[in-house]
Amino acid sequence: MTVKNRACALLGCARPIVLAGMGGPSRAELVAAVTRAGGFGFLGMVREPPELISAEVEKLRAAGCERFGVNIIPAATDPGLLDAQIETIIALGVPVVCLFWDLDPAVVARLRAAGIIVIYQVGSVDEALAAERAGAQIIIAQGCEAGGHVRGTTPLHVLLPQVVDAVTVPVLAAGGLATGGDLLIAQALGAEGAVFGTAFLAASESFAHSHHKQRLVEARPGDTLLTEMFHINWPPGAPVRVLASAVTEGGPRPAEASRVIGAEGTRPIYLFSTDSPLQSMTGDFESMALYAGTGVGSIDAVRPAAEILLEIVVGAATGPVSPDTGIEQSSPACYAHEMGGAYMGQPEPDEVAAEIAALLADLKAMLAASLADGASKDGNGPPFSRDGDALARWIVRLAPVTGDAPIPRRAAIGMDAARRAAVDRLGLFVPRLFNAPPAADLAVLRRWLAMEEAPEPVLP
Ligand SMILES: Cc1cc2nc3c(=O)[nH]c(=O)nc-3n(C[C@H](O)[C@H](O)[C@H](O)COP(=O)(O)O)c2cc1C
Repeated sequence: MTVKNRACALLGCARPIVLAGMGGPSRAELVAAVTRAGGFGFLGMVREPPELISAEVEKLRAAGCERFGVNIIPAATDPGLLDAQIETIIALGVPVVCLFWDLDPAVVARLRAAGIIVIYQVGSVDEALAAERAGAQIIIAQGCEAGGHVRGTTPLHVLLPQVVDAVTVPVLAAGGLATGGDLLIAQALGAEGAVFGTAFLAASESFAHSHHKQRLVEARPGDTLLTEMFHINWPPGAPVRVLASAVTEGGPRPAEASRVIGAEGTRPIYLFSTDSPLQSMTGDFESMALYAGTGVGSIDAVRPAAEILLEIVVGAATGPVSPDTGIEQSSPACYAHEMGGAYMGQPEPDEVAAEIAALLADLKAMLAASLADGASKDGNGPPFSRDGDALARWIVRLAPVTGDAPIPRRAAIGMDAARRAAVDRLGLFVPRLFNAPPAADLAVLRRWLAMEEAPEPVLP
């Protein structure tokens, strides 16, 4: 799927698949692998010295990557170091920067003034609005299913559509996403792309230690938890999502906080610090923060990043909705000449667009109800239940047909009411199309929604 959208245009990537700026694991090798496969990647440079930022950027450029980003976290960085990081990022001409945690409008303004595209990762609607006001050009909506530091408390299926409605800039989804189906549902909920952390953490090119990668491969769905136990180096009250381990059992034991459990060069690693195991470390890796999002159950091997990315692309492919008439060729502009009032009562292209926008509102209401029904009860399950895949496929395929017609807002009306509304709408509308595209597709959709048969959108 090579969706061209505002986010891809700003980032300069072909595919709406973004590698999270994971502090430690997201180094040049991983960013380069994701970029080469058509995605976009962030170097995770939280609290890293300017020299390392320069060295990683140089490696990327030597590998031929021009479009990439750097992630830093103002609130978790000493002001002097933060200033030096920003100076270096500007001097290097880094094209994109992603920021996270407490909003720092002065940092956003400084980066924007230097011509850098600024992205903010948020965990709530209020924060999204504040970040947009401060000048962020893309917002990442992070659901509480995310691996690593988790900003908010809202599940992604609730937060994402709210953020999409609230801001005018493009929105990317993050948190527990691991498959093409996840990307598809995120897009159906209004995201222009998705951010993957944990899914790439286990990639061959990631700088995570092999112990961490192996634990991700072995983990089953439901094996993660949110805890404030790993706190050293961060502002207080910052929950992280990690794999359950002997350390997380029984809650924090503050008396042990000064125990050294490993080292990175001459730097000691303390128990309960936010450091996760890296290839440059030695020590008791199992006692470190084993970050993982709730999608971890989908990781079954350590594989090259390009393979992981390709699998996401293939899994999200929407293909023609029905075998004979590709919806994409059926946008109002394309078939206007076939309609043009030739048949009495046949709708004009604008009306077709408005009808499909209204239909999309029904389908989105169904998807919202389905995701709410399937949501994990303890918050530690994947962000989206698989029941939503087929609906998401239809929504993403039909969206281009609406042209500029706005999609009406619907109050939450529940699955059955939304389904009946869509079936009734299609029952009235499809006959008026007199077999002009996209009549065949919509007829298939009506039968499926009416549960007369179960045709899923056909893949290429
Ligand atoms: C190992 C790890 C390290 C992370 N480090 C950072 C970081 O330094 N900066 C940041 O903005 N987000 C960081 N995150 C959070 C990601 O930006 C993103 O929200 C998260 O990975 C999405 O959830 P997922 O891991 O389930 O895909 C980290 C996540 C992980 C798993």
